[in-house]
Amino acid sequence: MKWLSDFSLKGKRVFLRADFNVPLKENGDIADDFRIRATLPTMQHILAQGGKLVVASHLGDPEGVYDERLSMQNVAKRLTELLLVPVEVMQDCIGKEIEERTKNMKEGEILLLENLRFHKEEEENDKDFAKGLAKLADIYVCDAFGVVHRKHASVALVPKLLPSAGGFLLAKEIEGLKQLQKNPEHPMVAIIGGRKIESKLPVIDSIAEFADEVLLGNLLANEITQKNISLAQKEKIVFPLDGIPGNGKEYDIGPETRKLYQEKVRNAKTVFWSGPLGKYEEEEYVEGSKIIAEAIVEDMSYAVAGGGNLLDFLGRYNLRDKFDHVSTGGSSMLIFLAGEKLPGLEALNYYGT
Ligand code: 3PG
Repeated sequence: MKWLSDFSLKGKRVFLRADFNVPLKENGDIADDFRIRATLPTMQHILAQGGKLVVASHLGDPEGVYDERLSMQNVAKRLTELLLVPVEVMQDCIGKEIEERTKNMKEGEILLLENLRFHKEEEENDKDFAKGLAKLADIYVCDAFGVVHRKHASVALVPKLLPSAGGFLLAKEIEGLKQLQKNPEHPMVAIIGGRKIESKLPVIDSIAEFADEVLLGNLLANEITQKNISLAQKEKIVFPLDGIPGNGKEYDIGPETRKLYQEKVRNAKTVFWSGPLGKYEEEEYVEGSKIIAEAIVEDMSYAVAGGGNLLDFLGRYNLRDKFDHVSTGGSSMLIFLAGEKLPGLEALNYYGT
């Protein structure tokens, strides 16, 4: 597999697949630009090297139909502020007109394509759509770690049609996560909370293969108990001792669990955290997540966190910078850690040819 620094970029049109699927406020403004900021080093490098940067991303899930609320206009505005160069948004992400425009680009110029998912062919992994995207550039670079688990045209096909490489963010993600899998300092504790139970359940056993203990949030734990789901690494899985009730469920870990998890995290040399431990948006259920976050950052352990809601929670309490690695991925991060092959990485020859 090649990396961005392996290519000479001067005068070359570079197609950068980014993941600018950022949370939006009611009025369409960007609620959190973490993913945009995380991609800046790659963009700045391409521009500084005299590359002609063509950036593409999805935003939300418009299901193949144009939706003004999911236009990349606001992302372009934010990019312009951060990069200090004007970022022009294209009317579309594909077509003759855009192809011509890319041919007239100057070195150091940047274009942002319109939302890839305004075309259903993106999610259908359509070959002709991929060919159309590939016509816009000479080199393909992927920094979209958050979406490498999707077999979508811009992720899984375009890299096969052009000389392709991983960007700086992709490299950072892989390094940050590999350190957990390969040589974690022990004891290693993984915390798996959050709401998206369907993406968490299948990876518990795989994560327990390299972690010494896996601490569960109440929702996940209750699902396992109620459905009698069997786990291969049972002896490593720690269930909450109690929970704070809310709306017929448990919306936070209870006092006994807080004490237990706090102690385990304090003794750990490596911590991986996916998903908050409670309904953190409501003051009365945020305490468990806060106590555990503080216990993680107050010692010197290697700490990695990821997933949209956890990032939001850590952002609200200014705790992101205190982690050694904060992943821009949610499901992709978990699948990577579970050791499964990801289509976006496969297309970049990450697993060898
Ligand atoms: C994410 O936000 O997790 C990624 O951008 C992938 O988005 P998706 O789940 O809509 O494919």
